[in-house]
Formats: sequence, C-alpha cells, structure tokens
Amino acid sequence: MKGVTVINHPLVQHHLTRLRDERTGPEEFRRALGEVAALMLYEATRSFAVRPVSVNTPLEKARGCRLEREVVLVPVLRAGLGMLDTILPLVPHARVGFIGLKREESTLRAAFYHKSLPADLRQFEVVLIDPMLATGGSAVAAMDLLGEHHVRRVRLVSLVAAPEGIRHLRRHYPALPIFTAAVDRQLNEKGYILPGLGDAGDRLFGV
Ligand code: PRP
Ligand code: URA
Repeated sequence: MKGVTVINHPLVQHHLTRLRDERTGPEEFRRALGEVAALMLYEATRSFAVRPVSVNTPLEKARGCRLEREVVLVPVLRAGLGMLDTILPLVPHARVGFIGLKREESTLRAAFYHKSLPADLRQFEVVLIDPMLATGGSAVAAMDLLGEHHVRRVRLVSLVAAPEGIRHLRRHYPALPIFTAAVDRQLNEKGYILPGLGDAGDRLFGV
C-alpha cells in the first residue's frame, strides 16, 4: 500500500507476536510494547532531514550532521503512552504533546477529551504515536487536531493497522506516511482488529 511501511524486522515481529499472545499479561505487555516502539521509531525517523555540520574530534575535524528540525512526539492517550517511555530516550531533546481520544463503543466514533500541543507545529517534525489503527477514526481526529496547530511534517507510528483504517486515513490524509508492524486482515463487527491483539489500552493498564 502506498505510503505504508510495514516494518518486517525480525525483532519487531518477535515483539509483536508476544503482544498478540493472549497469555501475555500487563507487565510483559508493557515491556514488549516499549521494546517494539523503540525499534519502530528507529525506522520511522530514517527520513528525518539533517544538515551537515563539522566538529573537532580530539584529533581533527570530522564531518557529521545534526537533525534539521526539532521533534515533537505525540502519543494518543491512553494506549500511545505505552510507546512513549522507550521512544523518548532516543530523542531526549524532543517535546511531548498529548492527544486524548476515546472510541465510543456503540458508534466507534473517537471522542476528544484532551490536548496539549505546541501552538505552532510548522517548524517541527511530528511523530504521532498510537499502537492501533482500526477504523481510522482516532487517527483522523488526531490529524485534524495537529492540522489546527499548523502541522507540516508528520508521520504515524502504529503497531497494528487494519486495511479499513488505512483506507479511511488515506481518504483524509493521502500523504501521511504510516509505519506499522502489521497490516492485519480486517475489523470485526465491534471494530476490533483481526487477528489484532485485543484492546491495547486495557491490556496495557489492566482496566
Ligand atoms: C484505541 C487505540 C486507538 C483507537 C483505534 O484507543 O489506542 O486510539 O482505539 O481505533 P479507531 O482506529 O477505530 O479509532 P481507545 O479509544 O480504545 O482508547 P484507550 O487507548 O484509552 O483505550
Ligand atoms: N483499539 C484497540 O485497542 N484494539 C483494536 O483492535 C481496535 C481498536
């Protein structure tokens, strides 16, 4: 699928399988989600723009590079929080924004309850983080909010994606790069991804 990068790295797939396993309890689920998130971020940031710089080593001058733009990580609450702790040490200078959305069980609509974002995202590289892309309603709502803050460069890191969610997101945001570990088969009648891994927030937090 255009614009969708499926990260097939063996470590990513290993951790994804631990997360899918119904026997994995909250403690191991948290650990595995953190581990896979760090690996995914590494892939998702591969195309970050850099500018050439030179530094003096103790011996001589060396050419290198620095990130061109500041980074804002934006986890979607709650489940996105499970990916933040391990990602942040990889980009310790990053700012962290938050978007709170809760999918209503009957309508599957994403209800907004919180946001905390820099007022103007124009100059930033933004990484939107949410383990699950199901109907795509939450991702579209999150992108709409980022749009209100003038986002220009944004990519989505989502552990498991459903084809329906990708299509929905593509209709609204055709140019958004999506990084995922798996494009699963389909949604069930309750909007859960099949085979998926169940309710990510519930499995993370036990509630
Ligand atoms: C889950 C998940 C996504 C959303 C995906 O969150 O973390 O945000 O569902 O579903 P969608 O693509 O159909 O919108 P949920 O709304 O269950 O909230 P939670 O993270 O607080 O459990
Ligand atoms: N949200 C989840 O946590 N899991 C799904 O399968 C769908 C939405």
